Amino acid sequence: IVSFRSANLVAATLGAILNRLRDNKGTPRLRTTVGVDGSLYKMHPQCFFSVFFLVTEHGDFLALDLGGTNFRVLLVKIRSGKKRTVEMHNKIYSIPLEIMQGTGDELFDHIVSCISDFLDYMGIKGPRMPLGFTFSFPCKQTSLDCGILITWTKGFKATDCVGHDVATLLRDAVKRREEFDLDVVAVVNDTVGTMMTCAYEEPTCEIGLIVGTGSNACYMEEMKNVEMVEGNQGQMCINMEWGAFGDNGCLDDIRTDFDKVVDEYSLNSGKQRFEKMISGMYLGEIVRNILIDFTKKGFLFRGQISEPLKTRGIFETKFLSQIESDRLALLQVRAILQQLGLNSTCDDSILVKTVCGVVSKRAAQLCGAGMAAVVEKIRENRGLDHLNVTVGVDGTLYKLHPHFSRIMHQTVKELSPKCTVSFLLSEDGSGKGAALITAVGVRLRGDPT
Ligand code: BG6
Ligand code: GLC
Repeated sequence: IVSFRSANLVAATLGAILNRLRDNKGTPRLRTTVGVDGSLYKMHPQCFFSVFFLVTEHGDFLALDLGGTNFRVLLVKIRSGKKRTVEMHNKIYSIPLEIMQGTGDELFDHIVSCISDFLDYMGIKGPRMPLGFTFSFPCKQTSLDCGILITWTKGFKATDCVGHDVATLLRDAVKRREEFDLDVVAVVNDTVGTMMTCAYEEPTCEIGLIVGTGSNACYMEEMKNVEMVEGNQGQMCINMEWGAFGDNGCLDDIRTDFDKVVDEYSLNSGKQRFEKMISGMYLGEIVRNILIDFTKKGFLFRGQISEPLKTRGIFETKFLSQIESDRLALLQVRAILQQLGLNSTCDDSILVKTVCGVVSKRAAQLCGAGMAAVVEKIRENRGLDHLNVTVGVDGTLYKLHPHFSRIMHQTVKELSPKCTVSFLLSEDGSGKGAALITAVGVRLRGDPT
């Protein structure tokens, strides 16, 4: 609190000086550089955020959020002044399976047609607006507005995108449509957007976590440890892509036959092995494979493997969350299974509930172990005896599952006793973070907003 107040006071004074300079020059927008030095400014982990945000962000920004359950287009209005406000409008669009797995042009044309609909819906088609693109897939990022897709994850498989800059693919699709123009300023991972959204409210937030369709985390690393970028001062946000942990075989000791089957039949076999043990897209499939095995052994469903049980993807995460709810009586569990076409006895439903519980508990503990490693790394980096840190979190599994968050928090507590870790739910999704980053990107370019 003391350091946050101190940073805010500096930022507020700096803001007054900058406004004065701008008024003196009589320009609507001032572009200037502040020379700065001092150990507190350089070394303190949180000053960055406060000074970063408080001074000048202002304007209307578009954001796209692609890669979670929903594809969203957003309009984010940021107003700074005596009181900062962020107003958001958004619309959800579906991405049909044949588009997710069609050609790159089809996918990006679809995205642009959703943007076109949104601009009409908001009545803002016309001026070229700055846009932040939350693109939740592994990218090689060489600048703020360039993200080269390394590989698709989750359910996406559109052709001719891997190896290409997704900002360029978006710009090309806008050109093809010849209807409006966009200024693609930033490509952002959802973990980063989530961290930024939470950091805007809570400056101790230096980690972003997603536990939804996929799973991933990002955190603030010391520049001196970032070999790929020159310079040793300050910190940089690292998108860990932790879903790919284990792809070199290092998790093989704890992967079960069920994990292996789920991996084998997935679109990206051999990849994202940690993600496949944790995230919403895969947990239901692990459960289904265990149920098949139990049925074959005669422990379930009178030994009869029904057609629904053979159907891939029937156990969506929402069913797992429902089945595991403490408020649900066994009869209701049976009703859910019945809905899925699985005729169960009372004993069957007890066993199914137990299987769901074991699979989701393992997922929460693995996720907690990953998070414990991250907070410990930050603590060691800073040579601290104790670290206080906040994690910005988003994702349907984390938000909707009745026990996941509690088990995950408990695991982090047990495995990193020297860290006090708070979890802050991201209220507005990572689109808001992408818009904030876009606002800063526009400012750094020196354009008028
Ligand atoms: C959303 C974020 O709220 O959560 C997305 O805005 C993110 O960027 C998503 O991908 C993750 O959750 P899910 O469950 O929708 O994959
Ligand atoms: C997948 C993506 C990653 C994303 C995560 C959560 O793991 O590769 O970029 O952050 O899903 O959506």
